[in-house]
Amino acid sequence: MDNVARSKGVLQLSAITAPLVDPVVDAFLGGPAPLQERVDAAVAELRRRRTAAARQRGAFTSLADRIDGWIRSDAPEHLDDPAFPEATKVQLVEALHRFNQAIGANDRFLRVLAPLVDEVVTRHGRPPRLLELASGSGEFALQLAEEARRRDLRVRISGSDIVPAQVERARRAAASRALDVDFRVVDATTMDGVDRGAFDIVFIAQSMHHFSPGLLARVLSAAHRVAAHAVVGVDGRRGLDKLLLVPGPAWLVPWTPHFHDAFLTARKFYSAAELEVIGRLAAPNAIVEVGSQGWVYSTLILRS
Ligand SMILES: C[S@@+](CC[C@H](N)C(=O)[O-])C[C@H]1O[C@@H](n2cnc3c(N)ncnc32)[C@H](O)[C@@H]1O
Repeated sequence: MDNVARSKGVLQLSAITAPLVDPVVDAFLGGPAPLQERVDAAVAELRRRRTAAARQRGAFTSLADRIDGWIRSDAPEHLDDPAFPEATKVQLVEALHRFNQAIGANDRFLRVLAPLVDEVVTRHGRPPRLLELASGSGEFALQLAEEARRRDLRVRISGSDIVPAQVERARRAAASRALDVDFRVVDATTMDGVDRGAFDIVFIAQSMHHFSPGLLARVLSAAHRVAAHAVVGVDGRRGLDKLLLVPGPAWLVPWTPHFHDAFLTARKFYSAAELEVIGRLAAPNAIVEVGSQGWVYSTLILRS
């Protein structure tokens, strides 16, 4: 059933949504309203136009559009709730790290980043400076540092998150493995305290869905200011199949905070067209590329 919906429904939805991207971007580029408001309105308009196009296409496509609308949620995850205990947030990102290990996620992220790292070396002839936003457990930045040490590559790696207990956990892990990764508290929506062009690549994994469209535009705009070469986002590809995949074993314990966040996560992933609209409005002078890493991940790259 999921496969049928994915191949016939979601794929048809992406086919009818792609031609809507340019007109929506044109309608919302510039103007007096702040970026956050404009992008929220642009994504709402994209969804409205998609629903109208799906209705014209026929009953099946219209049903696929409705199902996609029903599963969408704006409810906050525990990870985004300031009142939720930080110690449990650390447990949640550690569980996510184990999930990442099980599905080889970090290797996939490396494959997305590697060509951009090579570009920095070729173009600028210096050790690339990387900043990971919303780094959670910090394990991706640490794996990157281990990989660089193994290959004797010179890379400067920093990780960051808004939750101090997670940053502390990542710092301890770096110290215990003698890895030179600097972790700091950074709010990705403002990136206060991080200078323009301070990094070559700013990377954000599995976190774009944590932000409303307008807030994500603010994250990307701030990251674009800080990244001299590129901003790279990787997040789950939107699809009904992710409702099964992302909670994984947590389906056996659906009353836990792990299930709560994982199920919401799958409901919140952005479609490729939405990511393109958000990226192009956030950084109008960047070259925006939307793609995928296998059937699990969507990628969004803004080149400076
Ligand atoms: C799903 S986790 C992803 C963690 C890690 N990137 C990974 O893939 O394992 C989302 C992360 O986003 C962080 N986050 C949420 N809002 C943030 C913000 N405004 N600034 C920085 N990090 C934020 C959360 O604390 C959490 O660590």
